[in-house]
Amino acid sequence: MLDLSAVRSALSEIYDLTPSPALAASMNDTYCRMSRVVSPPDWAIYAPYVRATNQLKKERNAVILGHNYMTPEIFHGVADFVGDSLQLAIKATEVKADVIVQCGVHFMAETSKILSPEKTVLMPDMEAGCSLAESITAEGVAQMRAKYPGAPVVSYVNTTAEVKAASDICCTSANALQIVEAQDSDTVIMTPDKYLAQNVANQSTKKVVWWNGSCIVHELYTVADLRAYREHAPESKIIAHPECTPDVVAEADYTGSTSGIVNWLKQSNAEQVMLVTECSMASNIADELPQVEFAKPCNICPYMKKITLEKILYVLHTMTNQVEVDEAIARDARKSVMRMINLSRQLDI
Ligand code: 13P
Ligand code: SF4
Repeated sequence: MLDLSAVRSALSEIYDLTPSPALAASMNDTYCRMSRVVSPPDWAIYAPYVRATNQLKKERNAVILGHNYMTPEIFHGVADFVGDSLQLAIKATEVKADVIVQCGVHFMAETSKILSPEKTVLMPDMEAGCSLAESITAEGVAQMRAKYPGAPVVSYVNTTAEVKAASDICCTSANALQIVEAQDSDTVIMTPDKYLAQNVANQSTKKVVWWNGSCIVHELYTVADLRAYREHAPESKIIAHPECTPDVVAEADYTGSTSGIVNWLKQSNAEQVMLVTECSMASNIADELPQVEFAKPCNICPYMKKITLEKILYVLHTMTNQVEVDEAIARDARKSVMRMINLSRQLDI
C-alpha cells in the first residue's frame, strides 16, 4: 500500500505543489472543460499537479490512459486518451510511448501490459481492483467448461489475466452481444458478470449461461429508485450501464457502455438525464453538454476513486507500481483480447 505521507514528502522535495490561483488562471483552457463541476479553489489545488504531471509525461515519453470513471481533474487535466474499456484496450495497442500510466482499475492496466509487453505500465494504486475481476479465477472458468462441455467461454475484460488466458474470447460492455452472437455454438458461457450476461441473453439468439459475479456499484440501483425519480421528473431520460440488473435495464431509455452513454447523450436533445452508472460519468461530460441537467444517484466505485492526481505524479516520478504479467499467461490472454479487438473491428463496433 502507498504510504501517503511518504508520497507527499517525496513529491514536495521536487515539485512546487502549493495551491496557486495564479497558475490555475493561466491554465484556463484546461479548466474550462470542467468548470461546471470543479470549483475555482479546487482547481487552484489541482493545477500544480496537472502542470507537473504533464511536464513529466514528456520527459518519460509517457501517455496516460483514462477511463470514463476518473474524476474530472484527471479526465480533463492529465489523460491523453479517455474512453471505455474497449477503447482503452485498443488505444494500448496503438500508442507510441515507452510508458503507459493506466488511470482506471488493475484489470485495465493488465490488459495494456498484455497487449504491449515491451512498454512499462504503471498503476497509480495497485489496490484499485474490481468486484467482478475478484469474483472468478481460472478454476471457475474450468468449472463452467466442465458443466457446459464444448460451450465457448466469453469473459468480460473485467477479469484477471489468468481468467482471460483460460477463456476463448473477451468482451466489453460495448460489444458483448455481438461477440456472443458470433460464437459458433448454441450455448455460450459468459463470465463473470451475471447481469451483463442476463442482459445479453435477453437480446441473444443463443442460450447464455453465466458465472455469479456482479458489480458492486451497478447492482445497487433498483427499479423502485428509477420509478420514484420518473414520477418527479417525467421528462427525464434514464440511461443505464449493462452491469445493472435486467429490471433496471428494462426501465431505462437507453443502455450502453460508458462511451455508448456519452455518444447517446451527444446525439440526443435530452435536457434532463438520470445516469444510472458511476458518478464521474456525468461530471466528465457536464461542460461539453451545458444544456443537460444531470441527476446522478451517485454510486461511487471505490476502486476507481483510489486513483488521484497525487498518486499519478508519484508513480510517474518514481516509476514504481509497474504491472507485470507472467509471459505464458500473457500470451494466452493476448489471444482472447486480440480475438475480441479483431472481431470488433470486423463488425465495425
Ligand atoms: P465500460 O467498458 O463501459 O467502460 O465499463 C467498464 C466498467 O468497469 C464499468 O463498470
Ligand atoms: Fe468494477 Fe464495478 Fe468498479 Fe467497474 S464500477 S471497476 S465493474 S466495481
